[in-house]
Amino acid sequence: MAPEPDQVLIFDTTLRDGEQAPGCSMTLPEKLRVARALAELGVDIIEAGFPAASRGDWESVNAVAREIQGATICGLARCNRDDIELAAKALRDAPKHRIHVFLATSAIHRQYKLNMAEEQILKAAVEGVRIARDFCDDVEFSPEDASRTELEFLAQVVEAVIDAGATTVNIPDTVGYTVPDEFAELFRYLRKNVRGIERARLSVHCHNDLGMAVANSLTAVVAGARQIECTINGIGERAGNCSLEEVVMALRTRDAFFNVRTNIQTTRLYPTSRLVSNITGMPVPRNKAIVGENAFAHEAGIHQHGMLKHRSTYEIMRPEDVGLSRSSLVLGKHSGRHAFRERVKSLGFELDDAELNRVFEEFKALADKKKELFDGDIEALVLRAENSASGPWSLAELKTVSDMSSPAEAHVRLQHADGRTVERTVTGDGPVDAAFKAIEAATGINAALRKFELRGVTEGEDAQGEAIVYVEYNQRTYRGSSVSTNIVESSAKAFLEVINRIELAQTTGARAREERRAEGVQVARAI
Ligand code: KIV
Ligand code: ZN
Repeated sequence: MAPEPDQVLIFDTTLRDGEQAPGCSMTLPEKLRVARALAELGVDIIEAGFPAASRGDWESVNAVAREIQGATICGLARCNRDDIELAAKALRDAPKHRIHVFLATSAIHRQYKLNMAEEQILKAAVEGVRIARDFCDDVEFSPEDASRTELEFLAQVVEAVIDAGATTVNIPDTVGYTVPDEFAELFRYLRKNVRGIERARLSVHCHNDLGMAVANSLTAVVAGARQIECTINGIGERAGNCSLEEVVMALRTRDAFFNVRTNIQTTRLYPTSRLVSNITGMPVPRNKAIVGENAFAHEAGIHQHGMLKHRSTYEIMRPEDVGLSRSSLVLGKHSGRHAFRERVKSLGFELDDAELNRVFEEFKALADKKKELFDGDIEALVLRAENSASGPWSLAELKTVSDMSSPAEAHVRLQHADGRTVERTVTGDGPVDAAFKAIEAATGINAALRKFELRGVTEGEDAQGEAIVYVEYNQRTYRGSSVSTNIVESSAKAFLEVINRIELAQTTGARAREERRAEGVQVARAI
């Protein structure tokens, strides 16, 4: 009889390692939305951030710890008392929490980054784990750059931190350097040579610099790892981290080979991927495994012929299993609320009646402008509706006039949540530039535009255009996006979203500083 499958824990670090990637930073409300989606997805551990990195990080880890039930909430800390205390305070309200301490162990990091000898590393790692254990029974230790660390020294560190109380030992391939056979050998070496290794759960954390993060994570599981650290859509430093959806579906699709199970509700993979992509502005490549637009599309005639005879000819997973139930039925202005509700549901979104009614109204308005509405249009409507609660400014009117011979002119009327209405007419270099300048003039916030992108949400002549705007303000980057059939309107709304984020950051930042002062929490300076 085959043995019972083992449990592999899924440790999601989208909010920490993923968020660290350039262009992927998220606001606190966005992090909460992602954390809720991760909990619904069934991840076992959510690494919510690095509390000592900045005040914002501390606050978001704390907010996730206060709200999210079910998953263990984890915070990262260096091996020093200040970092660990900050993490412990941020996490203390979570029903289940973990402190994750790390210290680099490789010769390269010891010499050039830390200027520490082996004995000093060993001592600091043990000390870090002991301090963390004073606050929490669930402590993870990561020897950073483990895959480039001398095996004997790595084994020594792992043995010492387990003796000091680490309950999980994570082996990171920090620079994405290892290859599957070598990495499996490393895990086997540790299991053979570390006394007491059975007292800790072995974990794997891979980066994708050589495109092998998923393969290396899977090979580590074969060699005994029982926790995988990964991110939605594989976002993360440089080339990213191990992609959660890929590693989970590999384990599931090839379960006879791996004989392990995870707690992931795989039908939540696609909507979670869309949510993270929408929030971070990191598009999912069309050909991305599991969640890409083409992942289940069969174009070649010979493949289509085979699929019509039997799906298994060319399909190793069912799109429904990852939450992708694309329909060939296109919705239009005659579609009713019921058909709309069913489609929203089949795309993996759960809306309550009030939200559904609101999105349905927008759907009707869009259907008047656009002949056919594809799944991409409906996703955009739902995701925007979830985003649009931010305020405080809203666009009541936008008029632009432009021709080839004179500067463009934009007129905006903006409404503020405090009751003000402000109108401005401004000229600019084209209608989009004029609209941005008019919004700046009306709100009094001048931000430096760093990047502006436009892309079609779906196919077809009347496809909606998504505008994505990145600006810099007070040394911080802000991102906004919006979708419309009119690209000047989507651009202006994306820019206004950025202005709203800046204004919200200013007001909530001031309030949070007050609250923290009252609680006596000192957050370390950003590192
Ligand atoms: O890549 C890495 O080494 C890390 C550690 C902090 C686990 O992210
Ligand atoms: Zn990492």
